[in-house]
Parts: sequence; C-alpha cells; structure tokens
Amino acid sequence: MGSVSLVSAALRRLEGKVALITGGSSGIGESTARLFVKHGAKVVIADIQDELGHSVCKELEPEPASFIHCDVTQEKDVENAVNTAVSKYGKLDIMFNNAGTGGTPKTNILENDKAEFEKIICANLVGAFLGTKHAARVMIPARRGSIITTASVCAIIGGGSSHAYTSSKHGVLGLMRNTAVELGQYGIRVNCVSPYAVPTPLFKNFFKMNDDEVSCIYSNLKEAVLEAEDIAEAALYLGSDESKYVSGHNLVVDGGFTIVNPGFCMFPRSS
Ligand SMILES: NC(=O)c1ccc[n+]([C@@H]2O[C@H](COP(=O)([O-])OP(=O)(O)OC[C@H]3O[C@@H](n4cnc5c(N)ncnc54)[C@H](O)[C@@H]3O)[C@@H](O)[C@H]2O)c1
Repeated sequence: MGSVSLVSAALRRLEGKVALITGGSSGIGESTARLFVKHGAKVVIADIQDELGHSVCKELEPEPASFIHCDVTQEKDVENAVNTAVSKYGKLDIMFNNAGTGGTPKTNILENDKAEFEKIICANLVGAFLGTKHAARVMIPARRGSIITTASVCAIIGGGSSHAYTSSKHGVLGLMRNTAVELGQYGIRVNCVSPYAVPTPLFKNFFKMNDDEVSCIYSNLKEAVLEAEDIAEAALYLGSDESKYVSGHNLVVDGGFTIVNPGFCMFPRSS
C-alpha cells in the first residue's frame, strides 16, 4: 500500500462498518449517507421517498449503498430494513434514526387536532423507538453498536416549533437516555444529535422560508452557516470508534443557540 492510500485509509473513520440511515433520501440523512460512504461504511438508506433514495444510491456508486422502502411508523418495515442491512452486509454497526416530519405550524393549541398530533409523534418518536428496538435486536448478540437519533434544539427548549414536534423531540431524548442505560450492558452506545435550523425541505416547508431566509434567521454564532453536512459530521463522530466511551449524550449542533437567554444577557449581541 502506497503512502497516499495509507493516509486515506487512516482517514476513513468508518472502514468496514455497516450503517442504516432512516430518512436518508433527503437533507441531513442524505448528507450523512454521503459522508459515511466516504469514510468507508456500507450504507442502507431507508425512506418513504423511493425515487430520491435510489438516485442518491446511484450517485454513490461504485461504493456500497442501497435503498430500501421503509415507513418508520410501521414495525414490519423497520424490522425488514434492519434485516436487509444484516443479510446484505453481514451486520449492523450504526443505526441512524433520522427520519422525521414537521407537520403543520399551527400556533394555537385549540386548532391542534389529535390525529395530527399523533401523526407527528408516530413519525418522530415511535419511529425512533422502532429503529432503536430493531437495531438493539441485532446489536445485542454482537455486543456492540452505535444508535444515533436526530433530536433537535426543540428537544431542550420550548417555543421553537409546534406542540407536537417539540413533544416528539423531547420524547426522543428520553428514549435515548433510557435505552443508553439499558443497552450499556451489551456495549451498545445510544446518543442523539440535535440540530438548530438547517435549510432542508422539512425546515423550509414548515416555516415557509427559502434558503436565503433560513440563512438570515437568528444565530448566536456569527461567521458560520449551519449546513446538513455539519450534522453529518456529528453523526460521523457518534458512529465512529472515536466516540467509544460516549453514550447517553445529546450532541447539540446549534452554535450556542440554546445556552443563552437573550432576554437577560450582559454581553453585546448582534441580531
Ligand atoms: N432541518 C432542520 O432544521 C432540523 C432541525 C432539527 C432537527 N431536524 C430533524 O432532522 C431529521 C431529518 O430531517 P431533515 O431536516 O433532513 O428533513 P428532510 O425533509 O430533508 O428529510 C427527512 C426525510 O425523512 C423521511 N421521512 C419522513 N417521514 C418518514 C417515515 N415515516 N418513514 C421513513 N422516512 C420518513 C423523508 O422522506 C425525508 O427523506 C428529522 O428528524 C428532523 O426532525 C431537522
């Protein structure tokens, strides 16, 4: 092996690992699929957007990436996606529960109906539960694995989104903490990554904003713009052995948005 390939092999932080990414057809999941493959992982994208998912996999060729139709609210689909990753690539090292939906931005609880609330909880929280459960099913006998769920800044503060979305993301954090406690005995790590505003279809549709408008929304950290790739980098860390002792953690990627209360702050702040 020449020195150049030695260096590139050393930089491939997921060499030999198998990852399943829900919601991998678009946005954060798609970026993560691209980054994981670049780092040597074999990736299975599980999503309800079949055409998009297949085209992402096609672009990743000749690297090992495949698509499977999976609605994360359906246990059979999630079970099948996990089984497909194992039968295709021999094991499952990383489960990225990333699929999610924003729903409709109704700001008055009286206009929030039960069916809509349940729909968001089902996609965002029940989906993460099913992904965690079926990943654990195959990771427990292997006595290792990394389960990552995309939460949100809405998992730790109120007011950033709808009641349903905020509730679902708070729930995801509780699920992550409880399962990190249970699964630690098997060497399985469980963590969350929590993004602030990323200009994906989910965010832009929910807030009715275009890319420029998203880039202008309030940010505590100046001179940097949050992109889907930044969340992918956080997932890469949590999926790689570099985070081998990190479990039960919520890796917030928000430029400090959630640690300041602009209502009472002694430091000068620009808008
Ligand atoms: N974009 C942001 O600002 C932001 C901030 C915080 C958290 N998040 C979270 O990031 C995750 C990814 O969202 P994104 O912003 O990349 O949006 P996105 O719309 O680009 O991607 C979401 C993907 O999830 C898929 N999906 C939705 N429901 C599904 C289901 N039932 N089964 C399978 N797949 C399903 C969609 O088809 C889509 O491909 C979500 O969990 C979202 O809540 C996003």
